[in-house]
Amino acid sequence: MNQTFVSARRRILQRFTATVLLGLLPLAASAADPFKIGLILPLTGPFASTGKQIEAAVRLYMAKNGDTVAGRKVELIVKDDTGLAPETTKRIAQELVVQEKISVLAGFGLTPLALATAPVATEAKVPMIVMSAATGMIPTRSPFIVRTGFTLPQVTGPIAEWASKNKIKRVVTMVTDYGPGLDAERTFHTVFKAVGGEIVEAIRTPLRNPDYAPFLQRAKDAKPDALFVFVPSGEGLAVMKQFDERGLKQAGIRLIGTGDVTDDDLLESMGAPAVGVVTSFHYSAAHDSPENKAYVDSFMKANNGMRPNFHSLGGYDGMHLIYEALKKAGPNATGEQLVEAMKGMKWMSPRGPMSIDPATRQTIQNVYLREVKMVDGKAWNIEFETIENVKDPGN
Ligand code: PHB
Repeated sequence: MNQTFVSARRRILQRFTATVLLGLLPLAASAADPFKIGLILPLTGPFASTGKQIEAAVRLYMAKNGDTVAGRKVELIVKDDTGLAPETTKRIAQELVVQEKISVLAGFGLTPLALATAPVATEAKVPMIVMSAATGMIPTRSPFIVRTGFTLPQVTGPIAEWASKNKIKRVVTMVTDYGPGLDAERTFHTVFKAVGGEIVEAIRTPLRNPDYAPFLQRAKDAKPDALFVFVPSGEGLAVMKQFDERGLKQAGIRLIGTGDVTDDDLLESMGAPAVGVVTSFHYSAAHDSPENKAYVDSFMKANNGMRPNFHSLGGYDGMHLIYEALKKAGPNATGEQLVEAMKGMKWMSPRGPMSIDPATRQTIQNVYLREVKMVDGKAWNIEFETIENVKDPGN
């Protein structure tokens, strides 16, 4: 074989190998490439309010803080997963990884959607910022998950303790029958029984197409001192309407819960029937701090007067976490380095002081007791007690 032929063949082989490798391996991100954030949210369907709130907050953060971080241009890619189809969320995440070469996945309106996507984050080695889904165990499903919302076990204990100190001895619980509802039920039962309370009945309602009327009738017939409710945000208005129409309040039954049921997004529409409802939660749009006043003003101004709810904070603080991690880890950081930079990060949010637990990647934050009151003709969750620096109990 002559020499020229051998070296030509080697050159062709080398070129072929390089082409194959380039096609298969993700190219290391360079400072010249945009830093892409794939934001997957329910923007249609029954949980569209969650997506609308988070997208608005993410865009507000970028408008306030610019779109260049550590020399990288930040590009947002927003996708609608319609809220109730975990396989759709997972497929969108895979497409964002393979086709768009995103650096971070974010959003995740409901628990099943976050759980379905966790393996994609692990495989692609990209941080997955869970902004709203709130079942406690979600971050155990991937070392790339970091939470910026809250967990039900984190916020439920304080309302159980408050109830026992406020003449509430017998409680019916009513929760949506999936991850966060089961977390809320378990935590409420454990804490309330430990302080001497009695659970009269435990009701679970379906996630899809719920009709609360028969369940609320059952609760009324059990004649408890209070009804504890967890429903995912978006559902509170239907619960409040039925609670009112079935006359539970008139029968002397108090409504208590986590703040999902008096969600700020719907509270204005609930109006007077919601007055007196006591909940525990990590965010109220009425939170009295300069940071929150500035946040609520700018959010409402940018969104035709829409009041921000707790999900919006998951989005706003999620963007803060991504921006700060990119600054700290540098423009060429890998997914692992970004997650490392996020661990232990602390800041002042409009919700109050918060940090990322370095061991669990959960949020550590204040939990507030609040009561719905009318202020200038509008219903607000007015905070009256603060439990500082609450961790997810991890159970
Ligand atoms: C959830 O699916 O994890 C979820 C959704 C809405 C909430 C709370 C939890 O308000």
